[in-house]
Amino acid sequence: MSNDGVNKGRRRLLVGATSAVGAVGAIGAAVPFVASWTPSAKARTAGAPVKVDVSKLEPGQQMVASWRGKPVWIVRRSEEALANLAKLNNLQDPNSENVAQQPEYIPQTPARSLRDDIAVLVGICTHLGCSPTYRPEIAPADLGADWVGGYYCPCHGSRFDLSGRVMNGSPAPSNLVIPPHHYESDSVIIVGVDQETA
Ligand code: FES
Repeated sequence: MSNDGVNKGRRRLLVGATSAVGAVGAIGAAVPFVASWTPSAKARTAGAPVKVDVSKLEPGQQMVASWRGKPVWIVRRSEEALANLAKLNNLQDPNSENVAQQPEYIPQTPARSLRDDIAVLVGICTHLGCSPTYRPEIAPADLGADWVGGYYCPCHGSRFDLSGRVMNGSPAPSNLVIPPHHYESDSVIIVGVDQETA
C-alpha cells in the first residue's frame, strides 16, 4: 500500500472517531449559540476536525461550531443577502486579495465560499480578537440605513459583511479567517480538513 493510501485510511479513521463527539446537529435562529457538545481537551489540542450537519440550516440562520478552541460560524445567506454582498462598495479587501485569510480553494468572489449560500468563518475579530455579533437584519437603527446584514464587533466597532469581509472605517485590518473545510456530502461540512486532501 502506498503512503497516500495509508494516510487516507488514517484520515478516515480520524474523521470517524471525532465526528462521534464533534457532530453539531442543532441550529440557531437570529441569535447564534455554541453547540452543546464539548470535545475533549486532547481533541482540541490536536485540532481534530469537526463534522457539521447543515441540512436544517435555513436562510438567515447561523450555527456555531468549535474547532481548535475557536468559534466557527456556518451561516446560510438568503438570495437577497447574496445579491447585497455583490453590491457592497465600502470594503477594505472586496476581492479577498489578502490570501492569508482564506484557503486557496476559496473563490475570491463576494460570496467567498465553496457553496454560494453557506459561509464558513472563524468568529474572531481580526483587530484584537473579540467575537463579533451576528447581525443579519437590514438597516437596524443602531447600525444605520446602509447595513444589509453582517457582523458587528462590540469591542471597537469593526464591521464585516456576511462573507466576513471587513468594511472601511473598521479598526480590524483584514477580512475574517476562513478555516480549512470541505463538504463530505451536500449537507455535511468537515471543518479542519482541506478540500484538496479530502
Ligand atoms: S476586537 Fe473587534 S474591533 Fe477591536
